[in-house]
Amino acid sequence: MLTLQTWTVQALLIFLIAESLGELLNQCGNITPESPVVQLGSNFTALCVVTEKCMDDFHVNANDIFWKTNHATVPHEQYTVINRTTSSVTFTDIPLLNIRLSCNIRAFGQIDWTVYGIGIISGLPPEKPKNLSCIVHEGKRMMCQWDPGRETYLETNFTLKSEWQVVLC
Ligand SMILES: *[C@@H]1O[C@H](CO)[C@@H](O)[C@H](O)[C@H]1NC(C)=O
Ligand SMILES: *[C@@H]1O[C@H](CO)[C@@H](O)[C@H](O)[C@H]1NC(C)=O
Ligand SMILES: *[C@@H]1O[C@H](CO)[C@@H](O)[C@H](O)[C@H]1NC(C)=O
Ligand SMILES: *[C@@H]1O[C@H](CO)[C@@H](O)[C@H](O)[C@H]1NC(C)=O
Repeated sequence: MLTLQTWTVQALLIFLIAESLGELLNQCGNITPESPVVQLGSNFTALCVVTEKCMDDFHVNANDIFWKTNHATVPHEQYTVINRTTSSVTFTDIPLLNIRLSCNIRAFGQIDWTVYGIGIISGLPPEKPKNLSCIVHEGKRMMCQWDPGRETYLETNFTLKSEWQVVLC
């Protein structure tokens, strides 16, 4: 009976610590770049900078930072500890993706916290449009078409500018 009570109190305490830790950790750091669009096939590096205060409060350092993509932990070989408060992660040859990357800390050797998360998407820059042709119907409705080039895998807008020239003879 006594053991059960002790357990309950401990569990409650851990829960309370967890709650307040979660709140605090929200302002504990950030990731740069914030919302990157990465070129397909390129290398990408993100930096997680944690505040000195949080590092001190939770008795951690940059070695306790670990990275996750969606819910999978990124292998430690991809991390670099830059200094006491900063860890970087590098991905090579970025495939086609749309993922969430988060910077996490393991506090007290067992409680994992997400410090910050960003969204990463990849794609290719649009090519210069080719073969633009326009047809004007009865001097009003203009219809244009062009070859946009390779697939970008991204939302791509093309802006068409037209100018009417008045020719006086
Ligand atoms: C990406 O990194 C790898 C390994 O460090 C390197 O061999 C490769 O040249 C880099 N690729 C680009 C596009 O920078
Ligand atoms: C650690 O490196 C980051 C990124 O280069 C920098 O912003 C930060 O000020 C550095 N912190 C310390 C304590 O040197
Ligand atoms: C432009 O369109 C013409 C006719 O459809 C085609 O023969 C030509 O190969 C195209 N040129 C380019 C650069 O796509
Ligand atoms: C493309 O155009 C739409 C409609 O004007 C706009 O809502 C959207 O933000 C644009 N997207 C980009 C990537 O510029």
